[in-house]
Amino acid sequence: MGLQWGDEGKGKAIDFLASDYEVVIRYQGGHNAGHTIYFKGKKIVLHLLPSGIFSPETVSVIGNGVVINPVELLKEMKAVENSGIKLDNLILSSMAPLILPMHQKLDMIYENSRYIKIGTTKRGIGPAYEDLTGRRSLFVKDLFDRDIFLRKVKPLNEYYNRIVEVYGGEKIDMYSYVDSYIEAGADLKKYTKDTVYLLNSLFNKGKKILFEGAQGSLLDINFGTFPYVTSSNPTVGGIFTGSGLSHKALDKIIGVTKAYTTRVGGGPFPSELTDSTGEYLRKKGNEFGATTGRPRRVGWLDLVALKYAVMINGVDSLFLTKLDVLDDLDEIKLITSYKDISGESKEFISYLEYIESVKGIGNSFPGWKERTDQVVKYTDLPVNSKRYIKFIEDYVGIPVEFISNGVKRDQTIRRSI
Ligand code: GDP
Ligand code: IMO
Ligand code: MG
Repeated sequence: MGLQWGDEGKGKAIDFLASDYEVVIRYQGGHNAGHTIYFKGKKIVLHLLPSGIFSPETVSVIGNGVVINPVELLKEMKAVENSGIKLDNLILSSMAPLILPMHQKLDMIYENSRYIKIGTTKRGIGPAYEDLTGRRSLFVKDLFDRDIFLRKVKPLNEYYNRIVEVYGGEKIDMYSYVDSYIEAGADLKKYTKDTVYLLNSLFNKGKKILFEGAQGSLLDINFGTFPYVTSSNPTVGGIFTGSGLSHKALDKIIGVTKAYTTRVGGGPFPSELTDSTGEYLRKKGNEFGATTGRPRRVGWLDLVALKYAVMINGVDSLFLTKLDVLDDLDEIKLITSYKDISGESKEFISYLEYIESVKGIGNSFPGWKERTDQVVKYTDLPVNSKRYIKFIEDYVGIPVEFISNGVKRDQTIRRSI
């Protein structure tokens, strides 16, 4: 799972780990996610498909916690199949809530009318999850019976049109999308299963299961920088509500973090760099959103925030990505405390007015000024990079088990811990 504001390199991490597992599950979020994988030298960005699809033996499951736009899912499946990847092992939960066109419309209306601009991906994620807690959702299974679909979608469409009217927007005619949704449902049907029983049966048979988080802990609806968050739980609880597997299915949590920090969209960012170093990292790290293409905001690694994410998720080890991006810097900083008018603190309090007011302060390290992207063994990493890693481990209290030093699967160093 991601320990920052998303885009930590989860796709790369899952793709690296997937061949050791028999099942990979996406459990929350939707096509707001953009997980980048390099497969046979080609860049592929996945939004809904689990990053295990590049390991042919691995079963890839989209769990009940993921919100599904069926038309977008099919588009993604076709694009991936056109790249030569087979999706015979894909399974979609019949109980995943649907994203409907009005969710996307409402996402845009809310965003434009809000005093606080969250900077959402405008994919309808928030309104779709609102329907779940509001007990109005339709589910993938509803696509398989036109009568059921119409019976459920009609009152919902009317409900949304009343809201759209208040905001002065154009109403949506439900017949403009019913056919395309039903058709998409027909194409998706053969992939669809009751994943709750299926996953529990796989678990009981002793199959090795890997959970693929989307977004990141600081975007969590409960623990993130509210209201600048997404509408799901990228933290550990999302695994259970989004898969139907219990805590017994978890024996290890690997947290993915960049060697620095990025954030896309609005919201507080205590270690943000708005100077030429930030600009340099954005360019060197190619920090542009995998879903929306927006430039990502960039900053130093914030250990206060990282330790908070490790704490709330019970993370066992870290998958540290993009170490190579720091290679040429003279000096690198790690944020170790927050300062505001009331003093210094090492706690990440997810209250907007607090987190907006703090400034990150910390330690400077001399850079290593050596390329790391070809390094295969931990011992061969430059001394200063190992000092940097050791400082992170000591601060957060867990080991860095994996170091990613490039975009490709084999640019990953695994340490025995
Ligand atoms: P995700 O959403 O967590 O899967 O991450 P994204 O795919 O949105 O963003 C991570 C970006 O960093 C992608 O462009 C990856 O190809 C790239 N990336 C991942 N690991 C590394 C690494 O170790 N070094 C470099 N230079 N790029 C990396
Ligand atoms: P992956 O899985 C980075 C951000 C958006 C916005 C906020 C709410 O690739 O790490 P939403 O559309 O979810 O309602 O937007 O969350 N956001 C992400 N940022 N990576 C993601 O996913 C994100 N998914 C949503 O930019 O600030
Ligand atoms: Mg991403």
